[in-house]
Amino acid sequence: DFVGVVLSPNLTTCHKSLSDADRPVYCCPPKRDSEEPFIDFQFPDPSSPLRLRRPAHLVDADYIAKYNKALSIMKSLPYDDPRNHMRQANMHCIYCTGAYNQQHSNSLLKIHRSWLFFPWHRMMLYFHERIIGSLIGDDTFALPFWNWDAPDGMKIPNMYMNGSFVDKDRENSHLPPQVADINFDYVESGLEPEDQIATNIALMYHQMVSGAKKTELFMGCRYKAGEEGFCDGPGTIELAPHNALHTWVGSTLNPERENLGAFYSAARDPIFYAHHSNIDRLWEVWRGLRGNKPEIIDPEWLESYFFFHNERQQLVRIKIRDVLDITKLRYAYEKVDLPWLNARP
Ligand code: C2O
Repeated sequence: DFVGVVLSPNLTTCHKSLSDADRPVYCCPPKRDSEEPFIDFQFPDPSSPLRLRRPAHLVDADYIAKYNKALSIMKSLPYDDPRNHMRQANMHCIYCTGAYNQQHSNSLLKIHRSWLFFPWHRMMLYFHERIIGSLIGDDTFALPFWNWDAPDGMKIPNMYMNGSFVDKDRENSHLPPQVADINFDYVESGLEPEDQIATNIALMYHQMVSGAKKTELFMGCRYKAGEEGFCDGPGTIELAPHNALHTWVGSTLNPERENLGAFYSAARDPIFYAHHSNIDRLWEVWRGLRGNKPEIIDPEWLESYFFFHNERQQLVRIKIRDVLDITKLRYAYEKVDLPWLNARP
């Protein structure tokens, strides 16, 4: 077993933190997690159903009704309950604004702009998905993915315009049928739909293929524990479409384009989970394109760990090495076309 220092949070330290624009925010749990006992992650039963994540623009009315019901239960739970929707959103706030110090160092722990990006968000979605399923007694429930890398998925999926899926803090002019600019950088592209789609496909080819040939370019830089460890080198997909779409969806009427446009508030918008489900899927796709070789074997990455509450409200310690095989996590992605794959310019 590796005995060095790995990146991990010190749960006794949850404190006020700063938004992207350096405004103070507070997203710590009401009761300190440090007072709670935790359990180590265990894989779900290998014979449990495989949850199949499908494109959000293709799911049917029954599925939407079921998910809608779960989401309204989640929103109605008391804030003391870690399954509450705002608590879930605040998990993201905690880890993205640096509300915890690291174990063995007073440096803040942040999960963006480095090699923590993909695995940390995979963990968050894993627990979130299982909480939703358990709230409606459905152990096959799977999150949808926002298939923004394919022409039919390049707008806000209609399901997010109704019921519990609505977030009124979204940019009005970007609601459907507006085609998304997946490389949005605060300036409207002004492109006609077909040109925007072609531009998006070309970006995807770059982010997934030509610009992502080296592991670090895709996965992000090697963030290490301690004072000098933060590296600030996001992977291709993290920068765009990931960051770009956060900004594109969030409301220009709010100071930091909340909700989706600011890390502290992003996970309050239900579309966050579909956005990240697609990012998680693209990690699988990239891995598949290089023959499913382990992407990183550095124990400082594999052994890094974080804490989440599971569907039984238990605090769970989970390591990056636990989330590298999604079959073992009992979910899968529906196979869809990859229109960008052969789109070499
Ligand atoms: Cu943790 Cu999409 O951001």
